[in-house]
Formats: sequence, C-alpha cells, structure tokens
Amino acid sequence: MRNRVSVVGAGNVGASTAQRVAEKHLADVVLIDVVEGIPEGKALDLWESAPVEGFDCRLVGTRDYAHTAGSDVVVITAGLARTPGMSRDDLLFKNYEIVKGVTEQVAQHSPDAILLVVTNPLDAMAQTAFRISGFPKQRVVGMAGVLDSARFRSFIAEELSVSVQNVHAMVLGGHGDTMVPLPRYSTVAGVPVTDLMPTATLDRLVQRTRNGGAEIVSLLKTGSAYYAPSSAIVEMVDSILCDRQKILPCAAFLEGEYGIQGVFAGVPVKLGRRGVESILEIPLGEEEQKALHRSAAAVKELVDKLKL
Ligand code: NAI
Ligand code: 2OP
Repeated sequence: MRNRVSVVGAGNVGASTAQRVAEKHLADVVLIDVVEGIPEGKALDLWESAPVEGFDCRLVGTRDYAHTAGSDVVVITAGLARTPGMSRDDLLFKNYEIVKGVTEQVAQHSPDAILLVVTNPLDAMAQTAFRISGFPKQRVVGMAGVLDSARFRSFIAEELSVSVQNVHAMVLGGHGDTMVPLPRYSTVAGVPVTDLMPTATLDRLVQRTRNGGAEIVSLLKTGSAYYAPSSAIVEMVDSILCDRQKILPCAAFLEGEYGIQGVFAGVPVKLGRRGVESILEIPLGEEEQKALHRSAAAVKELVDKLKL
C-alpha cells in the first residue's frame, strides 16, 4: 500500500509541497482547501504532469476531509501568508482559528497521522495543532529550522564559493526575529564557519538569515516564500516516510530539554516513521543558551495569548 500525504491549504506552499512529494515518488497526495476549484484544479494539473514527469503517485484535490482519511502525514499550510509590513505575529489570531478548525477535522479522519505544521506564526501554530489534536507530542512537529538553516547554508555557500553540499548549518529557536543561528555548529566540509570567514561577514549572513522570510516578502510584494519552504517540508516528509532518522532542526514540544518547559521551539530532532523519535541536546555556550531561552520566551508570549 502506498503512503498517503494530505496537504491542507492549496496555496503557494501547499501546491509546491504536493508537487515535490509526487515528483519525489514519496506518496499519494490529497490537496485540500476551502476555496472551490482551487485544490481540485491544482491537483488535476499536477496529475496531468505525471506522464511527463514519470511519477505514479495519485493526486486528488478536494474540500472534503473524508478523502484525507488514513493519511500517514498531514501537512498544514492553511492560513494567511505574510504581506509587506505584516509581522508573523499579526497572523496569530486569524491563523489560530484556521489551524484549530483544520486540526479538528484532520484528527477525526486521520487519528494516527503525523502532523507537520507550517502555518505561521509557526511555533504557536504547532502548539495549537498539538493541543487541539490531543496527539502525543512525537506526532506533532513544526517546519521552520530546515528552511532557516537552508537559507543560512545557501548564503554561506555563496560567500565562500563552495558547493551547497559541503555546507551544513544549524538554526534553533522559534521561527521569528529571535531565531538562533549557531555558527559554531555550522560547517563547510566539517570545518566550522567561524574558522573560515571574518566575524563581520558571519554576522552579516546571520542577520540575513534572520531576515530571510521578510527579504522574500519585500521582493514578491504579494505573498511570501514557497520554493524553499516546500523543499524543507518535503525533506521532513521524506525522513518520516522513509524512516531515515535524519537529524533536522524542527519545532518540537519541549518538556525540560534545554531547560525549556511546555512550548514548541526549534531544536535538533531525530525524525523517523514515528515522528519525533528523539530530541538531541547539544552543548550550548552561555550566550547561545540565553538566545534560545529568549526565543522560547517569545513563543511562550504567543501561546499564552492563545491560552494553549
Ligand atoms: P497562500 O495564501 O498561498 O495559501 C494559503 C491557503 O490556505 C489558501 O489557498 C487558502 O485558501 C487556504 N486556507 C485558508 N483557510 C483554510 C482552511 N480553513 N482550510 C483549508 N485551507 C484554508 O499562503 P502560502 O504562501 O501557501 O503560506 C501558507 C502559510 O504558511 C502561511 O501562514 C505562511 O506564513 C506559512 N509559511 C510558513 C513557513 C515556515 O517556515 N513555517 C514558510 C512559508 C510560509
Ligand atoms: C518564511 O520564513 C514566511 O515564514 C515564512 O519565508
């Protein structure tokens, strides 16, 4: 039996995610949205590319959650995207209502699924899906760190004129202005980037990473990023469905790890068929630890507003 991935929200991120899942032959895809015709049209268009692309994954577009029943992974991208001048936090209350409604439907039809939350503000929305679904913490995970790290990696590779394949990076914390890029744990062919470029250059790349989402918004003007986000989502989907046990920075529910209690925040996670298989606690310096706590406190402010 083939895997089934449902993608809720057939907008830019959702549709690109459906495309990447199918083109990587990972699973059948159910694309679902509230707008009549959009999920149906995009799924049909993608399916009609199958003969040329050579994938046999089926794509269905729908507004009916019955079609999502028995999903292995449900990716939640439903919500509003940021527009210029809008902070991630402005989205909080509107997207809370959307993610709450979506999660209720998903939990009813796919009680054994892993929920992969994307909607912003990311960490607070992951916590919403966790609380509303009642799923164990292992089966609710948020995507942000893979994207933020990919941005950092691409900037490092560009700066040093090296292959992106040589560059690894780690960005922890909440998905927002307080995110915590960790240059000490970011390497080029195993060499820490701190040994490869002046501090001022590194600081510039760190700042550009923190501003990565806003940089795209200011260019696109009518929406936010979706190519890199969908790549990041599908790396996580792949690690789950293929049980790769990859270590990826993901938003996970913390209960004491890194001295943080009761909130989602980005940490290194081992991602496999059961979802969050474990959380790695890497040694952090005093400043890094403080930055992570500041970031978790910013998430806590949001989840307190939502009474989660
Ligand atoms: P979009 O506006 O292109 O698509 C959102 C879709 O959600 C629309 O098609 C809309 O009709 C649908 N939708 C709204 N309410 C719904 C509901 N109740 N049920 C089902 N579908 C519903 O936006 P885009 O660019 O796809 O972004 C989606 C979300 O992902 C935004 O919140 C955005 O900020 C977030 N995002 C998060 C990233 C991360 O790193 N975590 C990266 C990129 C985007
Ligand atoms: C991003 O970082 C909008 O959160 C989204 O591109």
